[in-house]
Amino acid sequence: MEFASSEYSKNVGIKIAKATKLANVSTATIRNWIKTGYLTKINAGLISKKSFDKFMQEVAGKEKLNSRSNKLLKDSHDHVKVRKTLKNLIDTTKSADIGSEYEKLLSNSYKNKEGIYYTPPCIVRDMFKNIYISPDFKFLDPCCGSGNFIIEAIRLGVKPENVYGYDTDENAVMITRERIKKEFRYESPNIICCNFLEKAPKLKKSNILFDLIFTNPPWGKKIDKQDKQKYSKLFNCGNSFDTTSLFLAASLNILKNKGKLGFLIQEAFFNIGQFEDIRRKIIKKKILRFVDYGKAFNSLITKAKAIIIENKTSSKNDEIICENNDKSHTRFISSFINNPKCIFNFEATNEENKIINHLYSINHISLKSNADWALGIVTGNNKKFCISQEKEGYLPIYKGSDITKSGLKKPSNFILNDFSQFQQVAPIENFLAKEKIIYKFITSNLCFYCDKNQVLILNSSNILIPKNIDISAQQLTDLLNSEIINWLFKKIFSTHKVLRGDLELLPIHNGYFRKYEKFTEENYLKYLQIQKDNNGEYQLVKSLKRCTERS
Ligand SMILES: C[S@@+](CC[C@H](N)C(=O)[O-])C[C@H]1O[C@@H](n2cnc3c(N)ncnc32)[C@H](O)[C@@H]1O
Repeated sequence: MEFASSEYSKNVGIKIAKATKLANVSTATIRNWIKTGYLTKINAGLISKKSFDKFMQEVAGKEKLNSRSNKLLKDSHDHVKVRKTLKNLIDTTKSADIGSEYEKLLSNSYKNKEGIYYTPPCIVRDMFKNIYISPDFKFLDPCCGSGNFIIEAIRLGVKPENVYGYDTDENAVMITRERIKKEFRYESPNIICCNFLEKAPKLKKSNILFDLIFTNPPWGKKIDKQDKQKYSKLFNCGNSFDTTSLFLAASLNILKNKGKLGFLIQEAFFNIGQFEDIRRKIIKKKILRFVDYGKAFNSLITKAKAIIIENKTSSKNDEIICENNDKSHTRFISSFINNPKCIFNFEATNEENKIINHLYSINHISLKSNADWALGIVTGNNKKFCISQEKEGYLPIYKGSDITKSGLKKPSNFILNDFSQFQQVAPIENFLAKEKIIYKFITSNLCFYCDKNQVLILNSSNILIPKNIDISAQQLTDLLNSEIINWLFKKIFSTHKVLRGDLELLPIHNGYFRKYEKFTEENYLKYLQIQKDNNGEYQLVKSLKRCTERS
């Protein structure tokens, strides 16, 4: 994006308020960039124009502002121009391709802001697998986009006049209407430009209910805090008030008894604490299928997973089909209820979940309220404040990759011994604790190290200091580093981010150290009454015994 010179003050300075608009960030972020030396402050409320220009050219889009929602530097969006091109497109493009061609006209920032990612047809088709369809069924896509679910529903036999679609993007509404017209020669009055979250209560009030609601809602679209609270109350979804949860709860409200609902949603929905309330709401219904589609959208890192539900009260013995990577198994619905935060870890089999539940059934404590937590230092500008050679005035500092279970690698970074300019530094007592546990923040294998030398760490690692527990920091480190706890962490959270909230949910079997002085994996498994079978899979000792007895 070009920044026209008229955007700037003609003087050497630029107001902070103006800079926030130009960079599309908050005042706090601009102040952080001043603190960390990217921008030069002239006086209260004014920064140097030269430093801002330099930042926008050299740093923005590379070191900073490089997340999806902040790629404004790379793309701009002119909706009027898009609309003109779209009209042309509709006349000249095959019905099935209009949506993807329209997506190409949209900037990344606009797509992210509005949550515009249309579902690939192969996923749409798969989500409809084994769904009975009668021509008289009423079908809804509450945020229809270019109409991929709608077109498939009609192809599968729903009458075009029974199909409804809503979207806040008038271009998307135009595309869906045109596609229905082109393919089925029907001019639908039911494809409407509106906010579904406002529309749903009105539909309910008029008793307009649907047999099938299938969609891919806008994931994590930003909405006002007040609106979030209003909708969360309206649709009764507690603390889960991101757009995915709101769309799901609103859709359940207008789904007929025994109607079916299919949602393609972000991976976080299945295992992150924020979605616990909506998961607890959903588990009361009969869940038919969970499907992992992997990275379904080229430009998104997040994985996409689907949930297919029948609007019927679930019973304990209901089985859910769980599919990933062409593999499929079934899980009892009850096996998710006992999971911490009702996590939907559907990759795990019933057998594996038995081990998970067993690990939680053995007496344990947790780190919730039993530890102090701190983040590694965020300098805000590592290039400026860290060097790779020892030098006077600099202190050794460790990154996540320097931590191993058995010790710390030789430090390859040294940090300026003046913390006042850094973006975020936890209270120094945390670093100076007599004993502290440091751990990698991004990793696919848990990796903890018990530090007794008061080392400093950067924000690719974090600190936990146990308190009020009857085992030492080293003993806790050994338990957390164990193979079985690593296995458990992967099977429940399936994430490469080691979040405090997840660590707080792990069972800490402190009783082990009442029985054994030293930690060994072998003794720990004995203590847990678990064995590894010949395939390297965990089994309860009792069931192994039973198997041997039978054979
Ligand atoms: C991820 S896209 C999916 C579109 C379509 N359902 C599909 O699967 O291909 C989400 C759509 O939600 C629309 N949207 C965002 N907020 C909305 C709202 N409050 N009400 C209705 N539609 C909305 C966006 O414009 C976008 O077209």
